[in-house]
Amino acid sequence: MLDDILDYTEHIRERPVWQPIPQPVREAFRQPLPQKPANLASVHDTFMRDILPYSVGNAHPGFMGWVHGGGTPVGMLAEMLAAGLNANLGGRDQIPVEVERQVVRWVRELFRFPDTASGLFVTGTSMANLIAVLVARTAALGTGVRRQGIAATGKRLMAYTSAGAHGCIAQAMDLAGLGSDALRIVPVNERYQIDIPALEAAIGRDKRAGLTPFFIAATAGTVDTGAVDDLTAAAQVAQREEVWFHVDGAYGALAMLAPDIAPRLAGIERADSIAFDFNKWGQVPYDAGFVLVRDGTLHHSTFASPAAYLRRETRGMAAGSPWPCDFGPDLSRGFRALKTWFTIKAYGAQKLGAVISKTCALAQYLKQSIEKEPALELLAPVALNVVCFRYRGEHADDVNRNIVADLQESGIAAPSTTTVNGCLAIRAAIVNHRTNRKDVDALIQAAIAFGSAYARRRATAGRP
Ligand SMILES: Cc1ncc(COP(=O)(O)O)c(C=O)c1O
Repeated sequence: MLDDILDYTEHIRERPVWQPIPQPVREAFRQPLPQKPANLASVHDTFMRDILPYSVGNAHPGFMGWVHGGGTPVGMLAEMLAAGLNANLGGRDQIPVEVERQVVRWVRELFRFPDTASGLFVTGTSMANLIAVLVARTAALGTGVRRQGIAATGKRLMAYTSAGAHGCIAQAMDLAGLGSDALRIVPVNERYQIDIPALEAAIGRDKRAGLTPFFIAATAGTVDTGAVDDLTAAAQVAQREEVWFHVDGAYGALAMLAPDIAPRLAGIERADSIAFDFNKWGQVPYDAGFVLVRDGTLHHSTFASPAAYLRRETRGMAAGSPWPCDFGPDLSRGFRALKTWFTIKAYGAQKLGAVISKTCALAQYLKQSIEKEPALELLAPVALNVVCFRYRGEHADDVNRNIVADLQESGIAAPSTTTVNGCLAIRAAIVNHRTNRKDVDALIQAAIAFGSAYARRRATAGRP
């Protein structure tokens, strides 16, 4: 099993990025519950034949869809060790919890947060954003809200984020019981950053209407275009208005590791909380989300729930309080910290930062290649590692949607789509450390080839 998966990683470039799942393969996963044991080798054969070739392919250098990290063999092997140890990181006095605390200390250092800040591994940034909303809710309403609920306070808490923010911010408001209607979507400027005067105006309007602004979620690397909000300006608004300042840095926050990119995140060190994933730009295998909270005491008081069966002691295995389960909703927790600790130890912060710089440089190369091609059009500024473009011509949305499906089905490259200014865009997010110029060239050439094939067909048939 180990040989096969290492071979897969080593020779990944020779494979298609993705391939459509044949119906018989899909059918193979609709069998009844197995009653009898099967030979392990035959189960592994099924994995090699029916599972491995049909994953989404984000370990492949040609994968540029959504925001998926590439992972590394180091992270993969560390994950194997973690599974062998089978540690439950909810708490208790064990070194795996110290490993997580070590990573928390490194994260504090990276973002220049005080020693009193708390941090927690979670599934991903969607969960990290939800935790941040809940801690901010405690800051606004006090811990009594945990027992009495929001209705008892009689306050209407309002949050603010930009039109470029990820949908999980609205979902966090929904899940926190505050309602997604209580999230004001602030327009963006020409660089797709939150419009600061519009943010100030929205907060002012709500205050005058008797509502309670409590949370600003700025974004460091928006999902659509990679825009970074003006974090210093957003921090100033939050400070003046006395609201929580959160940064959704799902992939962008780790640009702090890259000396040439980090200055674009100026102001992030002023955040009350930061959400990000090690499994995106940090190259740690899925999943390894993280939330950092400046006020560790407040974070603790948002989640800690004493229970007889989780009693803490000063000696024995129940020592070492507080435990990770006191900082989030999960009691059963895997050892996500180990693959992250291995990745940081084995590669070092500088090398991980160099990958981030390289992917941003590749995005600039892609942008320049698009600008040189008359058939292509850039749709948004390139702030980090995300490039939105399209093939020019009539019925552009339809044609570009088909180009992306053709690219994915060809196995040559796998961008995804989004909408920029009402136009369907081919969206390439370069996250994987394995991606190089050859992969960017292949994307451009194939996009043009598929686009011109549509144009020719349209010319003969009169429609796409
Ligand atoms: C800016 C931003 N926020 C939040 C998320 C959601 O993160 P996750 O998929 O880890 O839940 C993403 C995902 O790409 C993102 O780009």
